[in-house]
Amino acid sequence: MNWRLWFKDILAFLGLVWVARWVLYIVLDVVAALRKFVWARLSNDNLAIKYGGKWAVVTGCTDGIGKEYARQLAQRGMNILLIARNISKLNDVSQLIKEESPGVETGIIQVDFSHGRDVYPKIAAHLTDKDVGILVNNVGVSLYPPKKFMDASEEDIWNHVNINVASVVAMTRLVLAKMVARGRGAIINIASVASSCPGPYLGIYSASKVFVDFFSESLSVECGRTGITVQTIRPSYISTNMTNFSHYTSNTNWLVPSATTFVSSALPTLGHAGRTTGFWPHGIQAFLMDAVFPHWFNFVWTDLWHKFLLKDSKKQQ
Ligand SMILES: NC(=O)c1ccc[n+]([C@@H]2O[C@H](COP(=O)([O-])OP(=O)(O)OC[C@H]3O[C@@H](n4cnc5c(N)ncnc54)[C@H](OP(=O)(O)O)[C@@H]3O)[C@@H](O)[C@H]2O)c1
Repeated sequence: MNWRLWFKDILAFLGLVWVARWVLYIVLDVVAALRKFVWARLSNDNLAIKYGGKWAVVTGCTDGIGKEYARQLAQRGMNILLIARNISKLNDVSQLIKEESPGVETGIIQVDFSHGRDVYPKIAAHLTDKDVGILVNNVGVSLYPPKKFMDASEEDIWNHVNINVASVVAMTRLVLAKMVARGRGAIINIASVASSCPGPYLGIYSASKVFVDFFSESLSVECGRTGITVQTIRPSYISTNMTNFSHYTSNTNWLVPSATTFVSSALPTLGHAGRTTGFWPHGIQAFLMDAVFPHWFNFVWTDLWHKFLLKDSKKQQ
């Protein structure tokens, strides 16, 4: 037996398997992207019928992504229950929705999620007479700007726990039982691409988003046969108040969309994608981080990038 030839054949075969695996991976990803971002936009489902309730609840709805979900869900005919902490901003968003989407009802719940467990009885009381079809767990905070854990305040730490983590599970608990009884409903959890890799200088933020990502995916499996859709959205940078500490993360461009552009891409994916970035350029970024680059590379790059943002934000102050 010619061992050299035999060895060469094995290497050639392994190479072929490796290339085939990547081709298949990329083709499947492109097909999934077309389904999420092209096909999904063509279907214009009646959300209230599809998810069995006329009301959509949106947390953190007075600015940024939450405000856009509230506006665009109203434009799709849903009544909107607005939850945030600033009453005058809540009234403004409610007014805007009524002007933009005549016939749509709105409700307001003023709560500050940083107060933790105490706020949920009030929210529960508002929900008793509402048929909630969709919950958007959007409220979130970040370190502003990125900073070392040592420089974060005690308030920063508890805000991440109460707002980014606890609100997601507590709000889900308030609506899920009724959805399951009805056999229909949707829960959209806003995580972040930050859950792909530990983020030095945004450590508590990226860790809080891993929680949202894992919880949301686990729940989607548990709810598999109940008729409930649980969607995990993992965006990268979107131009909002959260990112306006540096012009690199707040000036809109093809990679950093406005909240309006982002939500008009992400909302149609509901019911068509379980776990998605919601925006195709962010999908490429997530694909590179999750499937192409090794963990150490993402880690080093994220560290350098956050250090750079920290310096840049200081220049802008
Ligand atoms: N922007 C991004 O690049 C990005 C990327 C990935 C994921 N995300 C996630 O997307 C979600 C929304 O982010 P965003 O960029 O839209 O943020 P944003 O512009 O800062 O808006 C946050 C919203 O939450 C409200 N809020 C903040 N703290 C609250 C509290 N303690 N109680 C009640 N409401 C509170 C804010 O109300 P006020 O107006 O009163 O402050 C505002 O309506 C977050 O979960 C975030 O982690 C954002």
